[in-house]
Amino acid sequence: MYVRCKIWLIRLRNPGFTIGCRPRIDFSRVRFSTWTGPITIGDDCGIYDGQIQGTLIIGDRVNLISPCRIGGSSLHKVTIGSDTWIAPNAYIVPTTHAYKRRDITISEQGTCGADIVIGEDCWIGINAVISPGVTIGRGAVIGANSVVTKDIPEYAIAVGAPAKVIGYRE
Ligand SMILES: CC(C)(COP(=O)(O)OP(=O)(O)OC[C@H]1O[C@@H](n2cnc3c(N)ncnc32)[C@H](O)[C@@H]1OP(=O)(O)O)[C@@H](O)C(=O)NCCC(=O)NCCS
Repeated sequence: MYVRCKIWLIRLRNPGFTIGCRPRIDFSRVRFSTWTGPITIGDDCGIYDGQIQGTLIIGDRVNLISPCRIGGSSLHKVTIGSDTWIAPNAYIVPTTHAYKRRDITISEQGTCGADIVIGEDCWIGINAVISPGVTIGRGAVIGANSVVTKDIPEYAIAVGAPAKVIGYRE
């Protein structure tokens, strides 16, 4: 009942919020953004801490361990496939600062970005940063403290900053 009430309250502020069956969400710790795009969360997901913002599509049985910052904007989307695990402190945001010009300040240059896609059955390690525009293939593993700046193939194990493929799941 408490969970349904909380979901109803979030929907009042973000009408694009939908969530599947049996959610495990710590509403005292998770902040759902109300000013970005829609948020779609599948069945049996666990979200325990962090800031979740749209535009975001999460599959079934996804676990976001505390605390993560995940989600897009009205312009750029994050998609996370079913059965994926995201370890604490992951930063998965497809929008970043434009900074190249030096005749104006960074704050005057606004933002830019590109969609992020994380496949099914992935494991994103603790403190990982996933850069805008990256696609992480199905089954890939991203090591702790990695910064993923390029696409990662299916079932690859990638580590480091910038992340490099060191092998593949068997
Ligand atoms: C990526 C990972 C799964 C690889 O584990 P593994 O298959 O046992 O690999 P190994 O420990 O044998 O390491 C293989 C090589 O990669 C390096 N490596 C492993 N993880 C690394 C990382 N996160 N960053 C940089 N290098 C790493 C090792 O130093 C080793 O290098 P070497 O061959 O030159 O000696 C693991 O290291 C990891 O980062 N796990 C995430 C842990 C985590 O976030 N837990 C949170 C709980 S949800």
